[in-house]
Amino acid sequence: MRIDIITCVPNLLDSFFAHSILKRAQQGGFVEVMVHDIRDYSVNKHRTIDDYAFGGGAGMVLQIEPIAKCIRSLQQERDYDEIIYLTPDGELMQQHMVNQLSLKGNIIMLCGHYKGVDQRVRDMFVTKEVSIGDYVLSGGELAAAVLSDAIIRLLPGVLNDETSALTDSFQDNLLAPPVYTRPAEFEGHKVPDILMSGHEAKIEEWRYEQSIQRTRERRPDLLKP
Ligand code: ADE
Repeated sequence: MRIDIITCVPNLLDSFFAHSILKRAQQGGFVEVMVHDIRDYSVNKHRTIDDYAFGGGAGMVLQIEPIAKCIRSLQQERDYDEIIYLTPDGELMQQHMVNQLSLKGNIIMLCGHYKGVDQRVRDMFVTKEVSIGDYVLSGGELAAAVLSDAIIRLLPGVLNDETSALTDSFQDNLLAPPVYTRPAEFEGHKVPDILMSGHEAKIEEWRYEQSIQRTRERRPDLLKP
């Protein structure tokens, strides 16, 4: 998989992808992430990329020319399955959406900033609009990082134990059960006996029940058909 992220603050993302699982996923050849600075595609010598909104109002709008130039230069190199615009008025990101995106080959993620991008970018280029939650961030970069992280960890081979992504919260619409590690007792707080029993089938059953109980208590909406 290849993910190209288009942004006007590339530094914000560079360090994010240089660590931990995301770093290993790239080193292992499971994904290639490239961050592109919109300013490099500016069409004037001052390298500007935004302008005042037609019709007035506060805030600057990212212009179409540099973004169109950037997207088209990427499209010359390869075909893209999806051009995603991160925006608070997009479709709410959920696990089933992430699962679907993890099956794609090449994805562009476009990050808005200021008052967002010229509507014509959305009309002409964007194939999917995604929000990571009902709150407004100062730009789409953190949203692109969140979405990329959620996708990349699902790619086969990225997590050491492939089944661990399948047992995440939200897969099967259930929250994950509690987990414990050594010591078996801390200040009087013990690990549930069943987990020390070695009885695999019973442990699975216990985990499933815990998942259901946790979901019922914390997110009953997930259990509705
Ligand atoms: N840009 C600003 N806020 C956002 C959000 N909640 N989701 C996606 N992109 C955004």
